Amino acid sequence: MNSYRVIGCMTGTSCDGLDLAYIETNGADKLIFGPAETIPFDPAFQKILRQRVGLRLLTHYMDEELEKSIAIFHKQHIEEFISHHQLNVDAIGFHGQSVWHDPPNQKTVQLGDSQHLADLLGIQVVGQFRQADVKSGGQGAPLVPIYHQALAAKLEKPTAFLNIGGVANITYIAADNQLAAGDTGPGNALVDDWVLKHTGVAQDTDGAFAEQGLINQNLLDKWIQDPFFEKPFPKSLDRMHFHYVLDDCNQMGLYDGAATLTQFTVEAIMKALAILPAKPNQLVVCGGGCHNAKMMNTLEERFENLISAYDIGFDADAIEAQLMAYLAARFFENLPSSFSGTTGVPQPTIAGQLFRPHSS
Ligand SMILES: Nc1ncnc2c1ncn2[C@@H]1O[C@H](COP(=O)(O)OP(=O)(O)O)[C@@H](O)[C@H]1O
Ligand SMILES: [Mg+2]
Repeated sequence: MNSYRVIGCMTGTSCDGLDLAYIETNGADKLIFGPAETIPFDPAFQKILRQRVGLRLLTHYMDEELEKSIAIFHKQHIEEFISHHQLNVDAIGFHGQSVWHDPPNQKTVQLGDSQHLADLLGIQVVGQFRQADVKSGGQGAPLVPIYHQALAAKLEKPTAFLNIGGVANITYIAADNQLAAGDTGPGNALVDDWVLKHTGVAQDTDGAFAEQGLINQNLLDKWIQDPFFEKPFPKSLDRMHFHYVLDDCNQMGLYDGAATLTQFTVEAIMKALAILPAKPNQLVVCGGGCHNAKMMNTLEERFENLISAYDIGFDADAIEAQLMAYLAARFFENLPSSFSGTTGVPQPTIAGQLFRPHSS
């Protein structure tokens, strides 16, 4: 097996910024971690992205412009990252900005012009990771389970990883390494949107607002009836699926809304835990939600063996970017990255498409 030096790039549904991570990997059991960084979007660019999320298409012309802007943004920061850390790089694993996710109609859209990025950098790019999966009848998400499985190599099984990004997703890894996975429901996105509306900043830092609020149990009881929770795994969500619950919050103030939405994220996670094949020994939490103390404490009250990925030596904020690098290596090695247990795709499917720079 070959080894690849890859920078993975992730811009998640929360629209908080660009995560970059360098790893050396064979796309299987070799994982050497390198530097990782998060570059927050500046407010103007973030506003553009947030407005675009949840629209199937703006106009072809405007989307092309945005795809180019996203590629240029990546190019600038990847070059700085390479020069700052003095890296030699074989490839880029490029996710792009998720804006629309509708697997039943075989449609998932991650904006970002992979070819343009390859041309600008003069480095080959593997991108469009979700397309083959949805075209073959999969959900196109989550793609991270195969990487969680690699990270879990030395953990006692069954174990599970919970990624709390804009949307939250869970990976269950059985004793025989079989995977079960899916989105659990909202992650931080609803809380972000709620707090943005009230304060102008899209984050309840450390859960401080939620900590001071009262939970509206009636609304929780109503929201948890959403048919999404009754679906078996694998399943995935568009970021905007649960957006309607924000309208229900309009009678509440900032604190009570934040408390109720944070509790909803936790209740959704508990629903997902209940439909896993068995109870995992522990739940390893990664993604930005692991910094939300209120969310973590509430979760811990409901599931005792909860740890942050940081506690076992992983960079919890870099895992999704590392995944993109890992998937690029798997693409080069012709290894599948999605499976019936993870995205529901009928056959194991290789993720990604290669974009070679025209300049070289
Ligand atoms: N200290 C913190 N307190 C509360 N929430 C946080 C904190 N740090 C990050 N977050 C939340 O984490 C999210 C970003 O996490 P991330 O894993 O990058 O998600 P995504 O992949 O969807 O971008 C944002 O929604 C942000 O509000
Ligand atoms: Mg992010």
